[in-house]
Amino acid sequence: MGEGSSTLEILDFGPAPSDFRAELVDGLGRDPKSIPSKYFYDEQGSALFDRICQLEEYYPTRTELAILREHAGAMAARLGPECLLVEYGSGSSIKTRLLLEALEEPAGYVPVDISREHLARSAGVLDARHPGLEVLPVCADYTGDYSLPQPSGAVRRVGIYFPGSTIGNFTPPQAREFLAHTAEVSGESGGLLIGVDLKKDRELLERAYDDAEGVTAAFNKNVLTRANREVGSDFDLDAFRHVALYDEKEGRIEMHLESTRPQVVRVGSERFDLHAGERIHTENSYKYEVQEFGALASSAGYRPDAVWTDPDSLFSVHYLSVR
Ligand code: AVI
Repeated sequence: MGEGSSTLEILDFGPAPSDFRAELVDGLGRDPKSIPSKYFYDEQGSALFDRICQLEEYYPTRTELAILREHAGAMAARLGPECLLVEYGSGSSIKTRLLLEALEEPAGYVPVDISREHLARSAGVLDARHPGLEVLPVCADYTGDYSLPQPSGAVRRVGIYFPGSTIGNFTPPQAREFLAHTAEVSGESGGLLIGVDLKKDRELLERAYDDAEGVTAAFNKNVLTRANREVGSDFDLDAFRHVALYDEKEGRIEMHLESTRPQVVRVGSERFDLHAGERIHTENSYKYEVQEFGALASSAGYRPDAVWTDPDSLFSVHYLSVR
């Protein structure tokens, strides 16, 4: 059997499919116009995102990995023995492997992913690589209702792992709500290990979201290609340009698609006028100071327990405990 082709049983909570057409029409009807960033990740968008993670300009992925390489032992010590490791977004990444290898007698590994296909593939890879580890995949929207599977052995702590700084794609109030939800899922003895991108120099940030090769621009524009294919809109990709700006006051990188001329976009029978220079807001990526994120986590009911950063203070990994 090839790597990743084992058939693990998936606990399926039947996450509701998103309604791209409705959300697109709603977003284009707003002022300013917007498209939810979750629609970036079709097959092509996910492949482009993987390429972004390899870019010289995009420091978060390699920096978080370097932090893991340096401190996986200390992180595993916080999580403790017989930890049921629950990962949000199924990881077949090196980060997951490093953490699992550092854990003392893990009670099991629970990848939670909205995509059944992605989940089956990555959980299969992990299962094959970690003989003896109980892998219990869950197909669910991790921001919604689902419950954790029971491994066969004892569980001393549920530790949720949320790498990649995806928390930055929520607004701070959404992030607080999400954090409170994770605390509820993991229970009294629970912990959360979470990757958080740090505030830094504007130039470095903007370069990370507007690389020289144009991969991030292609990633941003791909949402229009997806809309044309899936909901029959008629976006002219050549009439939009990628814009990435750091809003220092908000502490966030914003990605936009800017109309290069006056134009009308149709989504079925709906028409949307755009003037030259008008922007469609496609993504926020919030950056936090270490203390600032600790305060946000505290307001969601966590106790900030430990934090690891790289020598250049580009990225942070926080361990938060419920009690
Ligand atoms: C997935 N997420 C954490 C990425 C980020 O950095 O906000 C998405 C991304 N957008 C452009 N480049 C990467």
